[in-house]
Amino acid sequence: MRPARLRTALVTATAVALLCLTGAGVTGTRPPASADAVVREDAGSAASPFVRAAGAPMTVVAHRGASSLAPENTMVAQEVGRRSGADYIENDVQLSQDGVPYLMHDATVDRTTNGSGDITTLRSAQLDRLDAGSWFAPVFTGVRVPTLAAQLADLRSRGGNLLLEIKRADTREQVAAVVDVVETQRMTDRVLVQSFDPRHLRWVHELAPGLPLALLRSTLDPDPVAVAEELHLASYNPGGPALETRPGVVADLHRAGVATWVWTVDTAAGWSRYEQYGVDGIITNRPAELTGWNHARSGTRNVPGP
Ligand code: G3P
Ligand code: CA
Repeated sequence: MRPARLRTALVTATAVALLCLTGAGVTGTRPPASADAVVREDAGSAASPFVRAAGAPMTVVAHRGASSLAPENTMVAQEVGRRSGADYIENDVQLSQDGVPYLMHDATVDRTTNGSGDITTLRSAQLDRLDAGSWFAPVFTGVRVPTLAAQLADLRSRGGNLLLEIKRADTREQVAAVVDVVETQRMTDRVLVQSFDPRHLRWVHELAPGLPLALLRSTLDPDPVAVAEELHLASYNPGGPALETRPGVVADLHRAGVATWVWTVDTAAGWSRYEQYGVDGIITNRPAELTGWNHARSGTRNVPGP
């Protein structure tokens, strides 16, 4: 596709996606959650900045970008997420064969691009040629697989924060390549690193002790607070069904100064349930709707007067 046509397609795609949004939150990105963080009354003196203040809205995290409206883990999904009012964009990072961090959820590129093969067997020159949009809708044809560097440069210059998931890395050197991009892009104060793999978090802590960390869990640990302390966690991030087995862990973590961001929750019933549990952030495929719901609950915006 020629550059002018690609540009037109991207603008059209963004506009189409935005037309689908509710009115809430489309006027701009809210300040980072960390900017006005207040320690909860029951939190320890060294509470994570990701713990929300009592009565404050939950942090909105756009899962793989606004992935209900645009192709996941792409720049257009990030743009829609930002315009949806999301506080954070969530991504998935893996390295190409030649060691460049790219955004990709699956081990292979088959589902979300027009190519095939394990991403770790493909070089950047091959990944850069893939179409990562047409599988989602024809209007997104020409959208590319972004590098982490391009994603962070966009967030730095245009606004937004990143919940960076290290999806796959077998060595400390591979994790170091990811950390290096965050540092080179001067985004260490706007990134929260998460992983299901505790090794990744240990390596990040050794390489860059200032980078905040979160552990993803599909089932709860017997003692999440002990795990959080051992791994230096700022947030403990369970799946919704896991959290429902023991909602009291949110208060336990708060007493230790650790936040809880829950995934992946797309219904108002779920947002309400987890808000009652006291969670600090919600990772969702529907950031515009959650932003509107948040504002309506806190009475800060878009609520009709008496
Ligand atoms: O951020 C939580 C969530 O992304 C973890 O699951 O498979 O969507 O990466 P997955
Ligand atoms: Ca993820």
